[in-house]
Amino acid sequence: MKEHPAGTPRGEPAIRTIAMPADANPAGDIFGGWLMAQMDLAAGNVAARRARTRCATVSVDRITFLQPVFIGDEVSLHAEITRIGRTSMTIQVEAWRRSRDGEERVKVTDATFVFVALDQGGRPRVISAGTGDAA
Ligand SMILES: CC(C)(COP(=O)(O)OP(=O)(O)OC[C@H]1O[C@@H](n2cnc3c(N)ncnc32)[C@H](O)[C@@H]1OP(=O)(O)O)[C@@H](O)C(=O)NCCC(=O)NCCS
Repeated sequence: MKEHPAGTPRGEPAIRTIAMPADANPAGDIFGGWLMAQMDLAAGNVAARRARTRCATVSVDRITFLQPVFIGDEVSLHAEITRIGRTSMTIQVEAWRRSRDGEERVKVTDATFVFVALDQGGRPRVISAGTGDAA
């Protein structure tokens, strides 16, 4: 696994979006389920690019909500493949927030996703060797 400097996101930027009022929970902060969906999208994007085929989420492990996200925040999703198996990939995903009017970036959530590469019939497909493999 690659080292990454403390205080900086791990993995490539996969998605950047803005948290909107429709994404909030009844208390007014951003709903955790919305954030999980963004993380799943980010990991899926990286997985499909690496496997060069459609991929499905097979597990999500240790999702941790470290800090709240607020309406209007810029939310950046970073994803890094940390393991490539026969048909599966383990992907570490981090979400970082930045206030609309600030420069400080704060890690708000992280989780480990496992995606499986699929063939046209929806069955696991062997992932070919290639560049950009997990270190
Ligand atoms: C993904 C799916 C096709 C895998 O089918 P399966 O019969 O479990 O396949 P296999 O047992 O051959 O496992 C395939 C790979 O997934 C891994 N895997 C399976 N279940 C896993 C789990 N719970 N956690 C981590 N890895 C898992 C296996 O270790 C294997 O990895 P490898 O080939 O790198 O060694 C099937 O579980 C499925 O369709 N699940 C639903 C996916 C879905 O709808 N996701 C949400 C929307 S995208």
